[in-house]
Amino acid sequence: MKEIYFAGGCFWGTEHFFSGVDGVISAVSGYAQGNPDFAGRPSYEQVYTDTTGFAETVRVCYRPEKISLRLLAELYFDIIDPLSLNQQGHDVGTRYRTGIYYSDAADLPVLQEVYSAVEARVGQPLEVELEPLRSFYEAEERHQKYLDKNPDGYCHLPLRTFKYLRLYQDVAALLGDERDPVARMAETAALIYERMKFFWVGFYIVRGSELVLGPFQGPPACLRIGYGRGVCGTAWKEGRTIVVPDVEAFPGHIACSSLSRSEIVVPVQSAPCGSLTNPLPVADGISAVLDIDSTSPSTFDDTDALWLEKICGLL
Ligand code: SME
Repeated sequence: MKEIYFAGGCFWGTEHFFSGVDGVISAVSGYAQGNPDFAGRPSYEQVYTDTTGFAETVRVCYRPEKISLRLLAELYFDIIDPLSLNQQGHDVGTRYRTGIYYSDAADLPVLQEVYSAVEARVGQPLEVELEPLRSFYEAEERHQKYLDKNPDGYCHLPLRTFKYLRLYQDVAALLGDERDPVARMAETAALIYERMKFFWVGFYIVRGSELVLGPFQGPPACLRIGYGRGVCGTAWKEGRTIVVPDVEAFPGHIACSSLSRSEIVVPVQSAPCGSLTNPLPVADGISAVLDIDSTSPSTFDDTDALWLEKICGLL
């Protein structure tokens, strides 16, 4: 068993998130890295004054044979804003600063690698501490498993984060070492559809200069979409995820169903078509797009984009 400490803003949400990660044995809310002159265990009220130097921190104990430190650290960066100093969501104060604290110096190289990769991606120095653990005190019992005890309680993380974590892990587990790209796309579409209850979930596969309908769940849909056409063809052409809060406001939107009001399209960067029976060259590295439709406006946001991109990364 190993441990790592994550300060990610309000510990209620961070603890709930890491409790749901496969391979994690326990996630415990507490206070870490207080001022050296602060003697003993602080109370929540003392930490709340923001004068003790403590950060709300979660101790994550995990089985390294089930989950790597690298994956844990990557998941941590998925749920924080690494550029925000002393604020996560609505919570402001040094007690809500972000940090990774390690009790085993041998963990530092991997943590530094993940840290640098995030820094390179965002193109700015991160406001995230990376330090040896100096102190940690478990928080009061009422703060442990807070969101299990108070399902409607405050959480600075979007609640969909927890659903997406489960979905992401289940897609990874169900795909296993299956190599057939159609089978992988079919299983993924079915899982997203069943769990998230979206109106339409499916893949369009790159075939020459067109996208052709692939595995999907929901009502019948358009069979082919041209390069640069509609939301799907635009996401393919521009090589980026497109969130459409109102389909009527998107120039060139292709209405496969009049019930669809909002949409998200995520390019699949790998090459799942490579081993299909009729493979075609995939010049730009995009081999398919994941398209999801909703009957409500403004269904999708950055949280959906992040997790659906991670799920497409599994393909
Ligand atoms: N609306 C998409 C077409 C596909 S259907 O939504 C299933 C688009 O504009 O590309």
